[in-house]
Amino acid sequence: MELDKMDENDWRYHGEGNKSLVVSHVQLSKVLRLLKYPAEDSENPPQTAEQAFRQIQNIVDFSSNVMSRLLGDKFIHSGEVVKLPLEFVRQLSIKVQPQRPAWRCDKVMDIYSGCALCLPNLTAPSLLQHSHTPPLCVEIKPKCGFLPSAKHISRDIKSKVCRFCMHQHYKVSSGRWKRRSLYCPLDLFSGSRARMHFAVRQLIEEPQNNFKIFKGGQCIYSSKEGGSGDEDSSDLNSLLYHLRPYFLYANNRIHAHVSGKAVLSDFIQVLVNALLNSGGGGGGGVTTDRREEGRTYCEASVFNKERSRHGSQGLPHDSVLSRILNTQMLDSLNIEGLYPLYRRVEQHLRDFPKERNALQVDGPYNEAFLEHLQKCPAEDDGSLDFAVSKVHQYRVAMTAKDCSIMVALVPGADDEHDEDQDVLCPQRRLRDFLSSRPPTFSYSVSILDLDPKPLDSIPLQLSLDHKIVSCYTRTLAAAVDRDDRTLLFRPV
Ligand SMILES: Nc1ncnc2c1ncn2[C@@H]1O[C@H](COP(=O)(O)OP(=O)(O)O)[C@@H](O)[C@H]1O
Ligand SMILES: [Mg+2]
Ligand SMILES: [Zn+2]
Repeated sequence: MELDKMDENDWRYHGEGNKSLVVSHVQLSKVLRLLKYPAEDSENPPQTAEQAFRQIQNIVDFSSNVMSRLLGDKFIHSGEVVKLPLEFVRQLSIKVQPQRPAWRCDKVMDIYSGCALCLPNLTAPSLLQHSHTPPLCVEIKPKCGFLPSAKHISRDIKSKVCRFCMHQHYKVSSGRWKRRSLYCPLDLFSGSRARMHFAVRQLIEEPQNNFKIFKGGQCIYSSKEGGSGDEDSSDLNSLLYHLRPYFLYANNRIHAHVSGKAVLSDFIQVLVNALLNSGGGGGGGVTTDRREEGRTYCEASVFNKERSRHGSQGLPHDSVLSRILNTQMLDSLNIEGLYPLYRRVEQHLRDFPKERNALQVDGPYNEAFLEHLQKCPAEDDGSLDFAVSKVHQYRVAMTAKDCSIMVALVPGADDEHDEDQDVLCPQRRLRDFLSSRPPTFSYSVSILDLDPKPLDSIPLQLSLDHKIVSCYTRTLAAAVDRDDRTLLFRPV
């Protein structure tokens, strides 16, 4: 890729989040992640090219010096900042516009700075491309996997029902989504195969912006409302059509008899295996931090609680989920306990604005930043130092609550001497047919979207927390009035 000879025809729309728009190269395993600005600012950009460059460099530094140390560098691709020709960026912006989902168009792609983040394309991993069969990639945005400790919260419900499940009610009542998702992050992070299977099933059922599937680098399944604009993108039948060839011949099956249910179940099983094994043979221990009684189960989860009692083994040490959960748990005080410490930092910055740099609240995100948050005193001694350290921890935890996991799956490649990796090749069909287990896949697991969250997002988090909890308690009260507790809590 030569930066001075960029051609928009080599790139296509790949996806976007709230902060960035991503395009992928048609041949190379590369993506460009460009900043987005509110559409109102489209005439005059809110920051200079130098500031945009600094912002993206901060993202790279935060990912490589802070998040990768906490999450494990084997999962992280921090990428590099690139400077692109402005003409290329303008043409690209025009080219991708028709493919963007309408509800994301309140923001526009940054066409002023020419800066972007260049990353490997995790949905078309080049290492796995020797196989004839396109890799399947699953993107999961797991969200927060634990309940806050009762010490710091003012509303009891927060220690019973997880943030995601409460937020679902708020999102539906505010019109953000039409239907509630029954996915509960505590099920996914449980380490129990049955609960994890159930959680993934719910993500498939109602993907919202927490679940996507790619095949050969193209999105084949995502939320209909928030998705690619493709009519079929969240149609289960079309998903099964794509998945079937990967799962046809395992388990002594005869072609005609493979039900959609069995295909889906095999697929979920493969995905759950990848999530549990992603540590790569490490230790086999179990995370214990969260197993404090009552903090591993959300009362709003539809998963049958009795069943979950049996298989609650916790996550394997060093698995991707365990690394993410431990980083999320750096939020040890909850937003309610943290807010007074944020105010302490805020007040200090108001009195001594020049200290903003020294306290590294907007970076640089280097070794010293990481050290500051790791060397936090156990008790609040009333110092600024304690407050800054807790605020740093909280911001890192916010990033970990908002990241995505990308699991790339390639059929059969775990057999080292396997030359017939194509799922459709006759030898492989016969072998899989004769075996009585789900087909084997090799996988690679990555974590993406590891941007630092700005300091000013903390007061917004507090007010959102109030809104979500009030909305939930109101819904709960209304349901109790109607004697309709099943809406909120399933009978145990
Ligand atoms: N390195 C990558 N490889 C493949 N797809 C990516 C990569 N980075 C981002 N994407 C896709 O683009 C989407 C938006 O990127 P993301 O980093 O989550 O942006 P935002 O910060 O706006 O949420 C992701 O959900 C994912 O589908
Ligand atoms: Mg994102
Ligand atoms: Zn929940």
